[in-house]
Amino acid sequence: MQIGKLSDALGAEVTGIDLNQPHNPATVEALKRAFAENLVLVVRDQKDLSPEAHVRFCEFFGPLGKRSRPADSRHEKGNEPAEVMFVSNRRVDGKYVYTLPEGEMMFHIDQCYVERPARATCLYAIVVPEVGGDTLFGNLCAAYDALPADLRAVVDSHRALNVFTYDSTQRDQVGDPSKRREFVQPMVVRHAVTGRKALYVNRLMTWSIEGMDKAASDAILARLFDHQEEPRFVYRHKWRKGDLLLWDNQCTVHARADFDPNAERHLRRFTVAGGPLAA
Ligand code: OGA
Ligand code: MN
Repeated sequence: MQIGKLSDALGAEVTGIDLNQPHNPATVEALKRAFAENLVLVVRDQKDLSPEAHVRFCEFFGPLGKRSRPADSRHEKGNEPAEVMFVSNRRVDGKYVYTLPEGEMMFHIDQCYVERPARATCLYAIVVPEVGGDTLFGNLCAAYDALPADLRAVVDSHRALNVFTYDSTQRDQVGDPSKRREFVQPMVVRHAVTGRKALYVNRLMTWSIEGMDKAASDAILARLFDHQEEPRFVYRHKWRKGDLLLWDNQCTVHARADFDPNAERHLRRFTVAGGPLAA
């Protein structure tokens, strides 16, 4: 197994391992260390990775996470473990039957609108388009470290409300209040292994800073979003079939670039469970 850097911002690329095969504890330790240091792991060339092997890989990093929303489509209840989700634009009778089928998605953190967001999310690329549909990852530890003093003072001493309506990909689609989920989280969290602080906000879901009037809150959030999305903190992943990608869902934000809805894109997704977030 070889491990190399993916970019200056974050990420490690792992080659020379077949995760369908059993592996020894030293390999698992090396993967965990690389994940803690680099926040994103891309394991290349995983040919026909079985759902069981996919789950086993996730469980190197912690217990498997439950879905925050139950599978509502019969197509999602296949032979895979119940925790599976497919991020996919496959259609049945002309209709989408999976999650997040199309389009660009703003930077976000999965499940930050519930008490216990997933600690990590893992996607396996089964079919990916020739062009488009890249996933972008921002390093929230680096973003925190580089904050100007006035913004750091705010985030160190405040919490923020995170809001989401399922299937929305843009901030202004978070509509119908009766369908929203929301939770107040710290604006700074610590990496579970390294103890590094991370700037825990995102453009799609972070609505307001607790205890601040709307104008001040909006102005500060706008600056924080622009800051954390600066190219120096971001790695852009161009998918290859067989990529198995795991991201730290507490210390990174992720976004998706647009792609042709008629180009098939089918990824299998599991999460690693997380606990309540401590400031
Ligand atoms: C997700 C997600 C991005 C993508 O699965 O949580 O944001 O590139 N996916 O499909
Ligand atoms: Mn996501």
